[in-house]
Order: sequence, then C-alpha cells, then structure tokens
Amino acid sequence: MSFRKKLMENNRRWAKEMKDEDPEFFTRLAKGQKPEILWIGCSDARVSAPDFVGLQPGELFVHRNIANVVYHTDLNCQSVLEYAVEALKVRYIVVCGHYNCGGIRHALENTEFGIIDNWLKEVKDVYQAHRDELRLIENMPARLNRLAELNVRHQALNVCRTSIVQKAWASGRELSVHAWIYDVNDGLVHDLKYSFRDPYSVEPVYRYHVTEQHDLEHTQ
Ligand code: CO
Repeated sequence: MSFRKKLMENNRRWAKEMKDEDPEFFTRLAKGQKPEILWIGCSDARVSAPDFVGLQPGELFVHRNIANVVYHTDLNCQSVLEYAVEALKVRYIVVCGHYNCGGIRHALENTEFGIIDNWLKEVKDVYQAHRDELRLIENMPARLNRLAELNVRHQALNVCRTSIVQKAWASGRELSVHAWIYDVNDGLVHDLKYSFRDPYSVEPVYRYHVTEQHDLEHTQ
C-alpha cells in the first residue's frame, strides 16, 4: 500500500472513531482552540507529545525543533511563544527533551553536517558550561542523557529569560515553566523538578521589570 493510501485510510478511520465516540468533537474544535499548555519538544519522530501524555487535539499548543532549543533570535519559536502567552493565555509551558536524542549526540561528535551544526551550537554551549560534571560520566550514553537533561533546564530558563514571559509575570499572570524529559526506552516522562514561576527564577541581569534594589545586584 502506498504511503498516501495508508495515511488517508488511517485518517478516515481516526475521524470516524473520534466522531463515534463524541459526535460534537469536531464541531467544538472548529470554534477555536483554548489550550492551557505550550509544549516545546524535539522533532524526533518517536517523541509525539499528545500521544504519550494522553491529550486530545486542541489541548496542546506545540513547537518542535531539533534538540528542543529556544533561541531568542528564532522567529518561529518566539512567535509561537508570544502567541501562546499573549493570545492563547496558556498557563503552563513545558520544555520536554528526551533521552537518546540524536541532536544532543551530534552536538558532541565534532563532525560537520551542515546548518544543523550551527543550530546545535547552543547545546555545545550547555556542554561547555557543565563540562566538569559531564566529563566525570565515563559511560557515553549516560553522559549524553545527562547533557539532554541539562539542555532542557537551560532551554526552560531561556523561555523565562524572554521579554514575553517576563511581561506576563509582571502583569500578575499565573504562568509556570517546567523542564521534563521523555525516556524513549520505556515511554515514561520524568519531571526534572525545575519549575519557574516568577522573575526571580532567572538571574538578575535577565529581569526586565525590576522593583527592588536587590534585583539590580549585577550592577553593583
Ligand atoms: Co531529539
């Protein structure tokens, strides 16, 4: 069976099953989306978030790229973030990396592949910042998985360091940013216990709406 035929058949079956289960499902979705969660994950084909966290269409606003990197100069990522926070008014942002990530591995391989080498520069920066800890892990897969965890934390902080999230916090909005990791070996998601809920989550130099003198400690 051709891939087109297979996918079309799958689609027709899925749409029918959804409608059989909930006749109003598509009517409701057609009116608009109101997701509470923005999900930033890796493009890896094994990491399809709505499946492994059991959510339905309409419940997750999603941005994915290789190695779930949050660049402040990435117009795509920043547009998704701004729309999610300001228009959709999401309450939670989850940055979810995964173990056995090819992007993380490639970042440490010193091979040249193309544009992706530049894309993964931020992951190399994370390695460089934590190299003393990472070098002590002799088992390479374990070292890469630890780097994947550190990368998720760094990217979640990058979300917090944007003017978009800080503006939401300054206006009193309840908005939390979380760092999770998905294990492709057993399908389980782990909360890395890094949750950021206010401007004090980030270092003073990244804060835009300062009110106290101690917010300005970096200038002293
Ligand atoms: Co990946």
